[in-house]
Amino acid sequence: MKDRPKKFYLVANWKMNKTVREANFFIESLIPELGMNGVHVYIAPPFMAIASSVQYARDTSIVIGAQNMHDARDGAFTGEIAAFMLREAGAAFVILGHSERRHLFGETNAFIHRKVVRALQDDLQAIVCVGEKEGEEPEEILREQIMTAFEKVPAEESEKILLAYEPVWAIGTGKTPTPKQIQEMHGFCRKLLQELFGKKRGEGIPILYGGSVNVNNAVAISQEPDVDGLLVGGASLDPQKFIQMIQLVSKNQPEKYV
Ligand code: PGA
Repeated sequence: MKDRPKKFYLVANWKMNKTVREANFFIESLIPELGMNGVHVYIAPPFMAIASSVQYARDTSIVIGAQNMHDARDGAFTGEIAAFMLREAGAAFVILGHSERRHLFGETNAFIHRKVVRALQDDLQAIVCVGEKEGEEPEEILREQIMTAFEKVPAEESEKILLAYEPVWAIGTGKTPTPKQIQEMHGFCRKLLQELFGKKRGEGIPILYGGSVNVNNAVAISQEPDVDGLLVGGASLDPQKFIQMIQLVSKNQPEKYV
C-alpha cells in the first residue's frame, strides 16, 4: 500500500497536435535535457505517434501514453481504439474523461466509468480528469464525477489511478485559480478518494492540476501539499518550454518529496 506519492508528475497532453515526425523530434530534444530530474515525465501524443514515441523514449525515464480509448474490449466501433491495442503499442497510461471528451464529444460519467474499469483491467494507468464548468458548483460536480468514475473499483486497483483536477474554465484560457483555491479543491478530491479507497490508499493517489499551466505559474502551483503533478496542454507543445518547466519544477521540488 502506498503513502503519499514520492515524486511529482509532469504530464504533457498534446491533444490533436504533432505528427509522428514532430513527436519523434520533440522526444529527441527532450532526452539530453532530462538529466537527473526528479519528476515523472509523461507524454500523451496522438494515437498515430504512440508507437514511435515509445521507441524514441526507450531506455529513458519518459513514459508514453494515450489521450483516450474505448471501453469495449474490441468489436464494431468504427474509428475507436481499444486498451489492449494501446498496451501493444507500448502505452503505459491513458487520459480518460478529459473535459474536451466530455463536452465536445458528449462522454458521460457512466461511459468514463466503463473506460476506467477497462483501462485498469488491461493494466494501463488511468489519469482521470474531472472539473467544473464556469458557474457550476465545483464540489457537487467533483463528487458526481469522481464517485461515478471509480464506482466499485477494487481498492488494490487504486495504485494505477491518477486524478486530474481541471476546471473547464481554466483550460486553454490563460485563466487559473489561485494556488490556494487549487489546494482547496485537491483537498476535497483527496477526501473523496479516501471515502472510496480508504485513508491510506486515498493518500497515495496522485492528484494533478490542469488548466493553463505555464512556466510562470507551474512552480507556485506545484508547492501546494495536495498537488502531486501538473497536466499541461498548450505549454507542453514547445520542447524548450516543456524542458524549462521540467527543470523549474524539479529544482523547486516541494519539501514533501525531499
Ligand atoms: P491547457 O490544457 O494547459 O492548454 O489549458 C490543459 C488540458 O486540457 O489538459
